[in-house]
Amino acid sequence: MRNEDIDWNQVWMDAQRKNVNAGCGGECWTAWTDKDAAKKYLSSFTASPSARKRVTELSRMVKPQSRALDIGAGPGNIAIPLSKKISHVTAVEPAAGMVEVFKDNILLEGADNIRLVPKRWEDVDAESDLDAPYDLCFAAFSLGMLDLKEGIEKMMSVSTNNNVLYWHAGLQSFDEDALVLSPLLYGKEHYPVPESSIIFNLLYSMGIYPDVKVERKNVRLVYKTFDEVFETYASRYRADTDAKRKTLADYLRANYIPFEGKKVIRFTHRVSMRFSWRT
Ligand SMILES: C[S@@+](CC[C@H](N)C(=O)[O-])C[C@H]1O[C@@H](n2cnc3c(N)ncnc32)[C@H](O)[C@@H]1O
Repeated sequence: MRNEDIDWNQVWMDAQRKNVNAGCGGECWTAWTDKDAAKKYLSSFTASPSARKRVTELSRMVKPQSRALDIGAGPGNIAIPLSKKISHVTAVEPAAGMVEVFKDNILLEGADNIRLVPKRWEDVDAESDLDAPYDLCFAAFSLGMLDLKEGIEKMMSVSTNNNVLYWHAGLQSFDEDALVLSPLLYGKEHYPVPESSIIFNLLYSMGIYPDVKVERKNVRLVYKTFDEVFETYASRYRADTDAKRKTLADYLRANYIPFEGKKVIRFTHRVSMRFSWRT
């Protein structure tokens, strides 16, 4: 089969559907309806130098008079620092918890040049919800949409210069967990989030040959106590019977090790890719 015979958007949609149906509770954005989860996300971003580096990378693509569109902006962790360097940011974010934290931070930081659109990208109306055109359009780890081709085309329809997508490559720790735990707890196979290779091929099939940058990172997942990591997983995996709780505890004991006396920690590795191109 030739590469051009493959419908890469269909490959993305099939992988996305399988991942959602595998039981992580719905589309990606539904994981962020809770304000506390959004706050935790923001503090882990702030604590991570490699995550903060994304703000620096994106800032290099703009000038003080630039306008940017942030798709899947989360709690505003990129949009707010970026808004201090440019004239306007439109931030699209559907999850209620993320939106609440974002609004709090807009007030706290006096970031009045941000327009926050509380919608999924698929539901955004480019005419009425956006303030196009934008010199920089980006989506960082937020490609929860089923029809990615349509999402990219919509982004490019309002972009005059830089387009950037960040996404996962290889297995994420939450997928590593689910590949083991889903069959054990629910008798169900897990399907990981779609791979970056599909995005590259989709862009290529659209006549876009992006610059690709790979980021490799060693990550420590740290919890204060075994109880804390156990309860976090028990709620994530809805472990509501003694048998499920025992299976989960056995898995966590094998994967998280005591560290510095009281903390429990897991060493893992994370790889991601940045695709960038000009309109
Ligand atoms: C992991 S967070 C990333 C936040 C931020 N962009 C960053 O890089 O740190 C993913 C975000 O994408 C949002 N998201 C997921 N699917 C989306 C969609 N279809 N449209 C817009 N945002 C979406 C989620 O609600 C969530 O806030």
